[in-house]
Amino acid sequence: MPSSPWLDSSLSVRERAGALLARMTPAEKIGQLCQMDARLDVEHLVRELHVGTLCNCQSIALVRRVQEIAAGETRLGIPVLFGMDAVHGHAFFPGATVFPSPLALSSSWDPGLLEEVGRVTAREMTATGSHLTFAPVLDLPWDLRWGRVDESFGEDPLLIGDFGAAAVRGLQGGRLSDADSVIACPKHFAAYGASAGGRDAGEADVGRRRMLAEFLPPFERAVRAGCGAIMIAYHAVDGVPCATNPWLLGDVLRRAWGFRGFSQTDWENADALVDLRRTCADHAEAYRRALEAGCDVFCSAARLLEHGPGWYERGLLPAARVDEACRRVLEAKLALGLFDRPDKRLPDAARAAGVLASAEHRDAALRAARAGLVLLKNDGVLPLARGRLRRLAVLGPNADDPVSQLGDWSWGMQQGDWDLGPDHPRSNVATVLDGIRAWAADAVEVLHHRGCDALPARHLAMAQIRVMQIPRAALRPGPSDLAAAAALAARSDLAIAVVGDSLPTFGEQRDRADLGLPGEQQRLLEMLKATGRPLVVVLLCSKPHVVPWIAEHANAVLLAHNPGMAGGRAIAEVLAGEIEPSGRLTMSWPRHLGTQPVTHRQVPGWHGAPTYLDVAPDPLFAFGEGLGYTTFSCGEPKLERARLSSADTAVVEVEVANTGPRPGSTVVQLYADDLVASVTRPARELKAYRRVALAPGERRTVRLEVPCGTLAIVGADLNRVVEPGDFDLLAGLSSRPADLKSVRLTVTA
Ligand code: BGC
Repeated sequence: MPSSPWLDSSLSVRERAGALLARMTPAEKIGQLCQMDARLDVEHLVRELHVGTLCNCQSIALVRRVQEIAAGETRLGIPVLFGMDAVHGHAFFPGATVFPSPLALSSSWDPGLLEEVGRVTAREMTATGSHLTFAPVLDLPWDLRWGRVDESFGEDPLLIGDFGAAAVRGLQGGRLSDADSVIACPKHFAAYGASAGGRDAGEADVGRRRMLAEFLPPFERAVRAGCGAIMIAYHAVDGVPCATNPWLLGDVLRRAWGFRGFSQTDWENADALVDLRRTCADHAEAYRRALEAGCDVFCSAARLLEHGPGWYERGLLPAARVDEACRRVLEAKLALGLFDRPDKRLPDAARAAGVLASAEHRDAALRAARAGLVLLKNDGVLPLARGRLRRLAVLGPNADDPVSQLGDWSWGMQQGDWDLGPDHPRSNVATVLDGIRAWAADAVEVLHHRGCDALPARHLAMAQIRVMQIPRAALRPGPSDLAAAAALAARSDLAIAVVGDSLPTFGEQRDRADLGLPGEQQRLLEMLKATGRPLVVVLLCSKPHVVPWIAEHANAVLLAHNPGMAGGRAIAEVLAGEIEPSGRLTMSWPRHLGTQPVTHRQVPGWHGAPTYLDVAPDPLFAFGEGLGYTTFSCGEPKLERARLSSADTAVVEVEVANTGPRPGSTVVQLYADDLVASVTRPARELKAYRRVALAPGERRTVRLEVPCGTLAIVGADLNRVVEPGDFDLLAGLSSRPADLKSVRLTVTA
């Protein structure tokens, strides 16, 4: 037996981790359970305190230095795991590729795209020395006031699961030991998007049945796709903080799903059990209960680092769980090949420079941006015709704002330092103004004015936004001059207004009570409309807003979300008709904030569909909707066999036709309505979808498959079961009832 058997790659990962564990002191084991901020004194953390994971390190030189210390100057030479918030690309790293926000990506309805985004992200992460990403985000937002809606893949569990599983595959690649694979850590486990009032990390009152039916399935998909880690959410569900919930972390995650990776808390999650949640009397109890419930790694856990070894000696921490958690971390490091690869995955600045935002990766960002754009209205003003326009006005606060363009999680640790200079060179980002100017070239004159900010009124900004995470400079309103912007519109043949929210108004801890356009933007739009010029509105906003005026008065509306580094070019291409708009909504937009929730997954109440006396309850823009420059029709769905057992797969065929003048693509959607079930459930649940591209006049029969097992409900006894009976399968090009045609399926026992 060699003296360091954990270095013997002929042994299994389990054997190697076991051999290492057997040599470790309690302090060394506890160090492996701690994930610390890379901006601290990391040399001390690694050399003296044996820290196992560092997060959000933005320096290749520092990664190299830390790994040298870990390998050469610590007793057992255990390498450090580097984690990063690579939420839409390796966007926290200076100069990396920044993809559209997850919500924008989801509008592609293309899981293959998410897999590619994951691959690019992993390549860039590994080139800079990172091994673990705190992504994908699998939260299902229930209230649009929540600041983190943009990080989600929308409102549908099937789509979230499809995108999440694809992202895990892309990030983790063929094998974790491949040089360009990273560990995916889906988050935030679980039901983080369900907090009451959309208050970030607030209480979620969701019963177990609904957790199992709605919030947990995407996580199960990610676990089945092999994710190596999972991040436990901040909040409490039905009074039980996720970090001390043995049902969630043990019964569901480990025993029902067989998860084998490590779980980790979110930031200071265990400490908060004492300081904020007040469910534990002291910190030793908090860490003990979190370990007992199933937390393995603790993010930002200075107290555990300092006092953990003492607590351990006094029997205050469960020794067997400390061993198990430590073993899981070691196994992750071994699986990644951190001990083996000749280069030990050490990053290299020259190599990284060739990988970060390479031409190939920029191309992927451009394709992703194109795929996520959703045309919501067009009275014929689009596509723009170069020959018929002499002068264009590109107006509004987000027309030339690289920060809004890139979105959240793109500007360094919590965007806290707000040093927007070096992170992403301005030349890496194409804003809408850049894109339109490039398209217009010398043929069309382009005028620009930002008009106003996308910040709430000043007193609201200071009171309602926690300044903690937002530098004051970002809150300082810029000069606003609505009249000057309107004057440019009046001098032009057409006005393009790029409006929405801005980074200080969304993200973690940045919930809003009002989802109208922040600041003076509504007034700006009204003044532009009053000029009588055609008005095209580009919504560059993180999430759905309440914009009935825009829907009524703009001539065209294009939704971009936060479209990433190449977004401005993609937007110009769509406005100009160089490419077809092809995105479809993955979230419903309410007509009024008070009609929330407007998701397509409405459960009929005692009085039937939701009603309000004063506002139409249906969405202004519905899940699944999106226009193109051509039109499509969708025929009656036909079932290959109308009577099936629960083990069979229903095959539905539906004819789709391109009835307009241009080639284009649309997404055929299939929903199920379970006519009788033992519990209440949504009247429409998405079960299958397929994109189809058609030439003008072309028709095609599209085949959609629904395994009858996916028609299961979660019963009152918390078991998943397909209850025999009749189901209507509803096919169409959006979730609106009027757009759907149905066929009846009978499922036998
Ligand atoms: C967020 C996580 C993030 C972590 C590390 C937390 O505040 O909730 O999503 O991964 O910080 O940056």
